[in-house]
Amino acid sequence: MMDFNELALNPAVTRLAAILREGYGLRSGLVGLDGAVTALGDSYASADKMLFDHFVFGTQEWQDGGLPTSLGKNARQWGAKIAESSAATRCLAVTMDVGFSGFLFPIMVKDQAVLGLFIAGFVPSEGAAAALDAIRRRVPAELTARLGDKDNMRIAQLDTEQRRFAQTLGFGIAEELALLAERVSSATETRFEGVVRFGDMLGTSARMRNLFSVIAKISRSNSSVLIEGENGTGKELVARAIHQNSRRRDAPFVAVNCAAIPGELIASELFGHTRGAFSGAHRERTGLFEAAHGGTLLLDEIGDMDPTLQVKLLRVLQEGTFLRVGDSQVRKVDVRVLCATNRDLKTMVAENTFREDLYYRVKVIAIPVPALRERATDIPLLSSFFVNRAAREQGRSKKTFSESCLDRMMQYRWPGNVRELENEIERLVIMSGDSELIDVDLLSPRITGKRDEAPMPVISGLNLPQAVEHLERRMILDSLQKTGWNKTQTAKDLGVSRRNLIRKVAHYGLEDEPII
Ligand SMILES: Nc1ncnc2c1ncn2[C@@H]1O[C@H](COP(=O)(O)OP(=O)(O)OP(=O)(O)O)[C@@H](O)[C@H]1O
Ligand SMILES: [Mg+2]
Repeated sequence: MMDFNELALNPAVTRLAAILREGYGLRSGLVGLDGAVTALGDSYASADKMLFDHFVFGTQEWQDGGLPTSLGKNARQWGAKIAESSAATRCLAVTMDVGFSGFLFPIMVKDQAVLGLFIAGFVPSEGAAAALDAIRRRVPAELTARLGDKDNMRIAQLDTEQRRFAQTLGFGIAEELALLAERVSSATETRFEGVVRFGDMLGTSARMRNLFSVIAKISRSNSSVLIEGENGTGKELVARAIHQNSRRRDAPFVAVNCAAIPGELIASELFGHTRGAFSGAHRERTGLFEAAHGGTLLLDEIGDMDPTLQVKLLRVLQEGTFLRVGDSQVRKVDVRVLCATNRDLKTMVAENTFREDLYYRVKVIAIPVPALRERATDIPLLSSFFVNRAAREQGRSKKTFSESCLDRMMQYRWPGNVRELENEIERLVIMSGDSELIDVDLLSPRITGKRDEAPMPVISGLNLPQAVEHLERRMILDSLQKTGWNKTQTAKDLGVSRRNLIRKVAHYGLEDEPII
């Protein structure tokens, strides 16, 4: 089965779909051979859309940028038509049982239909009255309240010329999709033009596409890589993507945060120790280098590694050998080492806090991960992904952003980068309650540029302990954002111990990295 996500998020495709939506009020999307449906460019909610979705898919909920929550009868019929179509079929006209009309375009890869594009949701202007009547008669009771006056529902009426225009645009989208589908299906040769997803990373900006192609290029080598970037830019995701794209993908990926482990413990953590190597070493232990044998080891926050350990690390990198703490037997491992840092190692070298020889050794390949503000064009895509996920996790209906809200988010500087965006959106989903539209007034004051003059929002429906938790979470989050997720500073600002903070951060799910 083809993965639609990549196709559905392609910018050229979503732009054409937006023209159809904004110009004519038409709905477009992809339909799989099994009737699975994915919307195109679908980030705004409207009443006519809900109605259409209800009839086509038996649900008014669009799925999270991908797999459908239901396969309605009409969509299943479309899938079957696509599966039957031959290479000569460029477009099929379809009428749905409720009176909506549409077009269906088979997308072929190597003379084989792999999916279809639909453009639908209109009635032909000749005989429109009867079709509209049929549709209105069938609006289900549970939707009438949400749709308002059903006699004034906006349903597109297209004359012959407009239908021809919609069809022409459809051919354009279908052509683009066929090219993309071919690319997706040829796994060996991947090109990155327009690609929006790489591993778990999303991005359409030139900076991210460039990053994806760099990752693809260097994944197969065994050189050490230094991943540099501000807090929350996605350094760990880059490391995982390198591993996933390498021949080592079936062996372990092990990540260790050098800043989180006290100096004395980290050597035994990395290299293991013998029994009795130090007080407390009751039994022999293998270290993470051995655990990662055949795979990849990410040394996160490498700038925080203390100097004695830097020497040992240099030796593994140069010779692939190491000693367990307290042991004299030289051991050998095959591990690709990736390092990540948000500190400027070059300055640390100048200040003699980071070894120069190690610096050049880990920096054989350097991958800078751009800050979010340097790729603001990724914000709509990331936001829509995060909002769908948060709504689903919180068991709420799908939400969309107003245009001014998105604009504002694109202008903000995001010191905490993607992680800050992710957290802001989680917060917006909570704050927006039952409303399906997230508007600019809900954004945190630091983003709108307004000072926070509003009193604490009254949190209706919460009891005291819940309200206290809500406040605590919010204070921690605000402080994390202010410090760019620097936990030591945050703990200081909030007047709690670092350990206590880390526990609370985990409790509130404000940090998805494992705390080692
Ligand atoms: N391009 C992206 N697409 C989707 N999610 C992303 C992207 N970049 C980052 N994220 C998400 O943002 C969060 C931060 O990413 P990650 O932990 O990889 O950043 P980091 O640079 O390692 O941060 P830190 O410096 O704080 O360790 C994660 O939840 C990650 O899933
Ligand atoms: Mg990290």
